[in-house]
Amino acid sequence: MPKIVVVYLSTSGNTKAMADAIVEGIKSRNIDAQAVNFHEARIEDMKSADAIALGSSTFYYKMLPPMEKFIESLEKAHIKAKFGAAFGSYGWSGEAPVMIAEKMRELGINVIDPVLRIQYQPTEKDLDECKRLGKDLAIKVKGPK
Ligand SMILES: Cc1cc2nc3c(=O)[nH]c(=O)nc-3n(C[C@H](O)[C@H](O)[C@H](O)COP(=O)(O)O)c2cc1C
Repeated sequence: MPKIVVVYLSTSGNTKAMADAIVEGIKSRNIDAQAVNFHEARIEDMKSADAIALGSSTFYYKMLPPMEKFIESLEKAHIKAKFGAAFGSYGWSGEAPVMIAEKMRELGINVIDPVLRIQYQPTEKDLDECKRLGKDLAIKVKGPK
């Protein structure tokens, strides 16, 4: 059974709402997944994941520093995830998801499109996009059937 871990950093719940919807999309393809706050994420779980999705809101034109540290720890742990997704809520510039995607690519992860950015609190339509991203990630992990 493939495993996907979704990790988020969210100050007021907007990026968390995206993470929860991504998980819903993954589960709709019968793959087990869970959304975890970055400080609850266990490195062992990250190491054994087939795919990971990482999300942070944008603060001062970048991702929040703890997410940067978290990604550094993934690098040190030599994670094996082949596929990934990057996401996050933003207000006006929205650099964080783009930077997350770049870092993931540096780790050799194939980041699927789109790098998903939602302005402020996600609407129902935005959440549908998040679910779609989760579904697409699950399909990648399962491979062609
Ligand atoms: C102090 C502060 C700095 C922010 N800096 C940026 C920024 O540089 N660029 C941007 O797009 N949004 C910025 N935002 C907006 C947040 O990214 C936005 O409110 C987002 O929805 C928060 O999502 P979260 O609840 O997942 O943390 C900032 C918000 C605050 C409170």
